[in-house]
Amino acid sequence: MNFELIDVRTEAGKVGIVTLNRPKQLNALNDQLMSELGEALKAFDADPAIGCMIITGSEKAFAAGADIGVMASYSFADVYKGDYITRNWEQIRTIRKPVIAAVSGFALGGGCELAMMCDFIIAADNARFGQPEIKLGIIPGAGGTQRLPRAVGKSKAMDMALTGRMMDATEAERSGLVSRIVALDKLMEESLGAALMVCDYGQLAVIAAKESVNRAFESGLSDGVMFERRLFHALFSTQDQKEGMDAFVNKRKAVFTHS
Ligand code: HXC
Repeated sequence: MNFELIDVRTEAGKVGIVTLNRPKQLNALNDQLMSELGEALKAFDADPAIGCMIITGSEKAFAAGADIGVMASYSFADVYKGDYITRNWEQIRTIRKPVIAAVSGFALGGGCELAMMCDFIIAADNARFGQPEIKLGIIPGAGGTQRLPRAVGKSKAMDMALTGRMMDATEAERSGLVSRIVALDKLMEESLGAALMVCDYGQLAVIAAKESVNRAFESGLSDGVMFERRLFHALFSTQDQKEGMDAFVNKRKAVFTHS
């Protein structure tokens, strides 16, 4: 895979890592970068050796938003007819294996939205989140007004979207936007540790857990619980369930075969 605006590598042969790489523009997101990101994630998703992915940026910026220089000249006709964002920015939503956002520095606008499209966010202590689009005369356009209130509640989401202020890592963790905060120099180590842990579990259960948690955002409680129950039942047909429970009963470490 040959990319210009992202770096792609694997760790331990099983974690796919994508580093956004437009440091001079604080990783401002454009069509090319988002297409490359989608392509890289899809390739990792299709690779049986890969069990989990990490998206990260630079120390200063995960991503400071969509590229304002590019958007500045767009007309309504350009974005509506061109299907801006919908066309190629949300491929991450089709990825079935877990994707962790390892965020340091600014995650603003589309950058915050990209982090929220990941399955969970691990934040460095210098991370700052925000939806400052209001300052540019627009609103979030990649799910910010939808995912942020689901993560932090209406009042704080309104505060962020209407004032455009930033939230530091402590506030982000306190309000449920991020799952953990780590020291900046431990961000990749901690994220990789989480990813490797995921890789060692049975992939069928991992994908089912991701699908089921995501279902909580798309359905009412009864439908969501029914969806979970059916996947839960289905996992009793897998080799990994036999292995996981036998290993527990016999006090040994489970070795999952993803089957
Ligand atoms: C294009 C950007 C950019 C962006 C920063 N840069 N953010 N370029 N699009 N979103 C560029 C700057 O122009 C500058 O380029 C270089 O990166 C460094 O930025 P500085 O502003 O000099 O750095 P600093 O003073 O440290 O301030 C950092 C910052 C600020 C607070 C993050 O850059 C900022 O406010 N950026 C815009 C954040 C934003 O509004 N994001 C939302 C975008 S709208 P030069 O060439 O001067 O060195 C959006 C819509 C989403 O995301 C809709 C759907 C996805």
